[in-house]
Amino acid sequence: MKRFGRMGAVLMVALSMMMVAACGGNNSGGGASAGDSSAPSESAGNSAAAPAKSITLGFSQVGAESGWRTANTKSIQDSAKDAGFTLKFSDAQQKQENQIKAIRSFIQQKVDVIAFSPVVESGWDTVLKEAKDAGIPVVLTDRAVDSKDTSLYVTFLGSDFVEEGKKAGQWLMDQYKDTSEDVNIVELQGTTGSAPANDRMKGFKDAISSNSHLKIIASQTGDFTRAKGKEVMQAFLKAHKDIDVLYAHNDDMALGAIQAIEAAGLKPGVDIKIISVDAVKDGMQAASEGKINFIVECNPLLGPQLMKVVQDVVDGKTVETRIVTEETTFTSEQAKEALPNRQY
Ligand code: AHR
Repeated sequence: MKRFGRMGAVLMVALSMMMVAACGGNNSGGGASAGDSSAPSESAGNSAAAPAKSITLGFSQVGAESGWRTANTKSIQDSAKDAGFTLKFSDAQQKQENQIKAIRSFIQQKVDVIAFSPVVESGWDTVLKEAKDAGIPVVLTDRAVDSKDTSLYVTFLGSDFVEEGKKAGQWLMDQYKDTSEDVNIVELQGTTGSAPANDRMKGFKDAISSNSHLKIIASQTGDFTRAKGKEVMQAFLKAHKDIDVLYAHNDDMALGAIQAIEAAGLKPGVDIKIISVDAVKDGMQAASEGKINFIVECNPLLGPQLMKVVQDVVDGKTVETRIVTEETTFTSEQAKEALPNRQY
């Protein structure tokens, strides 16, 4: 009995030493200061079942500005967990400086891969070079950067925003193909300098350029948020009595604008035709009620594809340098049909 007790004690000591060693690994503190709400938070996926050397992914998210973003964050967190990766997640609250800080913190912590969705297109070369020099591969998701040096990142996984803008413009072209009168369009743009704002504007303009009756009479940023969408639409309605069409770069801004249109005593979807991008549940609901006439889908569920790319990169496999998400469009009728099965 005594002998058995001593052996038990030895086993206990060995076991606790192993546990301390396991907890100490991969937790070097990071560079973000205490109290900083953009500081990376960590969630270990499947810790019980995780293999000895699990992959650590640092992910810097844009923020929580829209329904799309909320669905995108959930997709990434759920998929990292399913893949058994350790995810260091940081919310940049729509600020580039916070993203740069997070990326530097990930470099310090020696994560295996860094992924991020850049809030704006420009100004990334220095920090991406730092990641490259540290030997940490970077994956862009959702939004692109305009760096000339494409060796600074492995791949860009996400939508073709120019194509989304074109689809929106093409729908309008079809609606007004026989018009002999001017059609006044107002545009609610996404975050200034962001890839989706730049590209959705470009694609839309290109698509409508051959019909000189389609005129963009006002264009302003609503920062992809509902509150700003409402505020800017109120200003548009005050300044222009003859708005025929609203093109909003996302559903949240369109939903804010709908509130402003209704408050002005007008019928959204009838007095003012509305085109938007994303196809999140709330947008699809408004479309099914006829308040939004046409939605171009932008798929936020990028998590599973991202985890596959991360695994391939770690395994040393070749990955495509551009991975484009497949997307569709919805008229009001199609939105009504699709709404019951909409995931986000
Ligand atoms: O980058 C994707 C865009 O960002 C979505 O269309 C918009 O809703 C989000 O905020």
